Amino acid sequence: MSDRPAPDDDAAWAHWRDQWRFPDGVTYLNHGSFGPPPLAVRQARRAWIERLDNQPMDFFVRQFEPAWFAARQRLAQLVGTDEANLVPVDNATAGMNVVAAAFSLTPGDEVVLTDHEYGAVRRIWQRACARARTDEPKIATLPERFTSAEQVVEAILSSFTPATRLLVVSHITSPTAIILPLPEICRAARERGVAVCVDGPHAVAQIDLNIDSLDCDYYTASCHKWLSAPFGSGFLYVHPRRQEAVSPLVLSWGRLSPTEPRRWDDEFVWSGTRDPSAFLAVPTAIEFLEDVDFEAFRARTHALARYARESIAGLVGLEPLVPDSPEWYGSMAHVPLPPKRAEELDARQLQNALWRNFGIEVPIVEHNGRRAIRVSCHLYNNRRDIDRLVNALGKLLA
Ligand SMILES: Cc1ncc(COP(=O)(O)O)c(C=O)c1O
Repeated sequence: MSDRPAPDDDAAWAHWRDQWRFPDGVTYLNHGSFGPPPLAVRQARRAWIERLDNQPMDFFVRQFEPAWFAARQRLAQLVGTDEANLVPVDNATAGMNVVAAAFSLTPGDEVVLTDHEYGAVRRIWQRACARARTDEPKIATLPERFTSAEQVVEAILSSFTPATRLLVVSHITSPTAIILPLPEICRAARERGVAVCVDGPHAVAQIDLNIDSLDCDYYTASCHKWLSAPFGSGFLYVHPRRQEAVSPLVLSWGRLSPTEPRRWDDEFVWSGTRDPSAFLAVPTAIEFLEDVDFEAFRARTHALARYARESIAGLVGLEPLVPDSPEWYGSMAHVPLPPKRAEELDARQLQNALWRNFGIEVPIVEHNGRRAIRVSCHLYNNRRDIDRLVNALGKLLA
C-alpha cells in the first residue's frame, strides 16, 4: 500500500499550504500564469543573494560556475536530456527569442504555428518572418473538440507545404490548457523534414517530461510556473543537430577567464555581471516537489482541476474542449463560458470583478472569439477555493 495521501483528500494535503504566504482574503487560482514559489525556494534564493552580496569576488570567481553547472545538471535530469543540450535563460520568452534569432529563414520559407499558441510567441515569429522577408507565420486551426492525437496531427499537417521549415507548437496550450500530443506531432513533422520548436513552460513539473524522447529541435520553458522555482528562471534546450547555429542574444565572455568558450553552451554561462540567484535555486524547487512526490503532486492537482472542470461545466452547462482524462489536461482546467450578452461583463471585466468583489485571481481568457475560464490548481489550493469561485461566477453570470 502506498502511503501517498489520496488525491482528493483535502485534509491530508492541507499542510503544504503553510509553504505559501498569500495575503488574507486572496484565493489564488492562477499558478499557470505566475506561480509563487514556496518558502523553501524563496529562502534558497535569498541565501544565494546573500552569498553574492557578502563577497561578490569570491562568489563570481569561485562559486558561480560550479553552482551554475550543478543547477543545470539537476534540471537536465528532471526534464530528460543531457546537460550539454540545455542552457538557462530568464524565461520561455527569452529562449524563444534565441531560437528566432538562430533559425535560418529565407524568402519563401514558411513557419507554422497553431491557433492555440501564446500571443507573444506569435509576435516573435511574425518579427522573425518579417526580418527574413518571408510571409507571416501560417496558423494551423486545431479542432473545435479534441478526440484523438491523430486528429490534432492531421490539423497541423494540413497547414504544411513543401516550403514549411519550422513548426512552433505548445506542449500545454496557454489559452486552453490542453496537453497536445507532442510525441506524435514531432514524429509527423520530422518525417516531413520540418523542424519543431516546442513552447513548453507549462509542461515542466505538470507532466513527466522527457525532452530527448520527443526528438524535437528546440524546447523553451519557464521554471517559475509549475515547478515553482523563482521568477526569472527558465531554460532553452537545443538538439545537438542545431547547436552550432545557436548563440546568446547578449554576448559576453561566455566562460570566465581563464577558461575559453569552446562549445555552444559555454557562451551562455557568463552573459555579463548579473544576479543568477533565480536559476541557482532551481534545484531547491526540484527537491521540494520530490519531497511532495512528483506523481502524487500531479494526481492531487489533476483531481482539483477535474473538480473545477466538473463544477464550472455544471454551472454554465457547457462542455470542455477535451475528454476527461489526464492525457488531455493536467493541473489546469479550461471551461468555455456562455457568449457575452450585450449587458454582460466582457472577459477583462469579469476577471476584474472576480478579484475586486471576491478576492479571486483567475484568468478569463478570450480565444477564437469565445470567453472561457482557466483554473490553475497547485498544492496550496483545495476544493473550498473552487467552491468559492463557482459561487462567485454564478453571481456574476446570473
Ligand atoms: C504557452 C506559453 N508560452 C510562453 C509563455 C511565456 O512565459 P514567460 O512569460 O515565463 O516567458 C507563457 C506564459 O504564460 C505561456 O503560457
